[in-house]
Amino acid sequence: MLTIEKLSEVIDIGKRESKNFLTKPYVDIFHQKEKICPNFKKDESTYNQFYQGDNFIVMKKLLEEGYKGKIDLIYIDPPFFTKTKYKGKIFLYHDEEEDIIEHFAYDDTWEEGFFSYLKMLCTRLFLMKELLSEKGTLYVHLDYRTVHYIKIIMDQIFGGENFLNEIIWAYKSGGASKRYYSKKHDTILVYTKGKEYIFNPQKEKSYNRGFKPYKFKGVKEYKDELGWYTLVNLKDVWQIDMVGRTSKERVGYDTQKPEKLLERIILTSSDEDSLIADFFAGSGTTGVVAEKLNRRWIMSDIGSLSSLTIAKRLIENNSTPFYIYKPNIRDERAGKLYLNEIILENDNGIKCLKIELDRYEIDLNKINIKDKDRELINEILTKNSLSLLDFIGIDPNYKDNLPNLRWQYYRNNKRNLDSIIYIKIDKVKEDQKIFIRYVDVFGNDNFMIYKIKNGKVIRWE
Ligand SMILES: C[S@@+](CC[C@H](N)C(=O)[O-])C[C@H]1O[C@@H](n2cnc3c(N)ncnc32)[C@H](O)[C@@H]1O
Repeated sequence: MLTIEKLSEVIDIGKRESKNFLTKPYVDIFHQKEKICPNFKKDESTYNQFYQGDNFIVMKKLLEEGYKGKIDLIYIDPPFFTKTKYKGKIFLYHDEEEDIIEHFAYDDTWEEGFFSYLKMLCTRLFLMKELLSEKGTLYVHLDYRTVHYIKIIMDQIFGGENFLNEIIWAYKSGGASKRYYSKKHDTILVYTKGKEYIFNPQKEKSYNRGFKPYKFKGVKEYKDELGWYTLVNLKDVWQIDMVGRTSKERVGYDTQKPEKLLERIILTSSDEDSLIADFFAGSGTTGVVAEKLNRRWIMSDIGSLSSLTIAKRLIENNSTPFYIYKPNIRDERAGKLYLNEIILENDNGIKCLKIELDRYEIDLNKINIKDKDRELINEILTKNSLSLLDFIGIDPNYKDNLPNLRWQYYRNNKRNLDSIIYIKIDKVKEDQKIFIRYVDVFGNDNFMIYKIKNGKVIRWE
């Protein structure tokens, strides 16, 4: 609970802090930049972007780089003030067994209380308004815990006249209580930047009474397995199932949202080639759906598990190329990968790079895992440490401090990474550098660089 005076203080602080922040010179912290190319796209200026970091800084960077007024649609699904620490599920496959451990994804506990939560969101909403184009729309996904406070804050920032809709997303999953009505919906607040906003009305089925045909003149009717229906403009109550345990979409990230939800939002409030952003990206649902609908995207998330989940999800979806930006060059929690050998081979005139992995080492004391899982991981580390590797990306022709991870290998479908990797390479030049990025199942990343000298591959960095 917060008094109305405190709420107005939040808005004042949000306004002041965002303004101060914008007037300060920007010092770039995203020193690690990599290109991931599951698919080909010529025009590099339209490559999509993922930032692992605090979205406050990400938004400042974007504003500095000319994105003011350039984004047509922003969807955010921030923490809900649930006072919970969220996890991601990690599936470990070893010795023909499968184990599931949980790893920290993000923290929705607020030591300094509700005021600090509102302040966090309020300052960021001011920056989002700056990034939105004149025809832009902002969707803020919340629930009963905070939505009524954020509505008042958003009225102040965007103007009550730009409040477009309150969407109710209703679902069946979750618990029930005998002491209150079961809580089965989230609320999405929709605000436009101005009056000339993009809005492509979408249709939904409306079943006729008794599921029988009306046969009204001029009304088109359709039939499916339930019965007769007409198509009407989408209403503001959306019944969409959550991403269930057995859903194909499921990536194991606790608060993952269904693609269907994002599909409606993106189709309605953006056009093909529009730029879309999600600054609390989680498992990356917004980017994945934007890809499918031919929109460009920018996403950010503070967590390393989110970053790993998003990269893999996009690669699996054969997405267009994207950049990943991170603040650090080498994470101090990083593990180390050891190779048995890395050599150049010539297979019937085709030049190949052969990389044979040996083992992976990591200091478990630096990782946020439960004590009960520690023993299991220790055992895996001694018996089959490579099964803790989740992703390997390789640039066989590394230049200009910008790895282009054209080759990507990742665990999926209950399969660990192969321990021998072959890469076809077109040209081999003296001093050519080979960049190898590797990420473990906890999201910790590291890299190594090799160099070609006198036809041999030697360790460089
Ligand atoms: C509810 S989840 C988003 C889930 C997402 N919509 C999906 O479909 O997977 C909220 C996300 O916000 C991220 N987050 C929280 N504070 C952040 C901040 N200051 N900057 C960037 N990301 C943040 C968390 O790491 C978490 O992944």
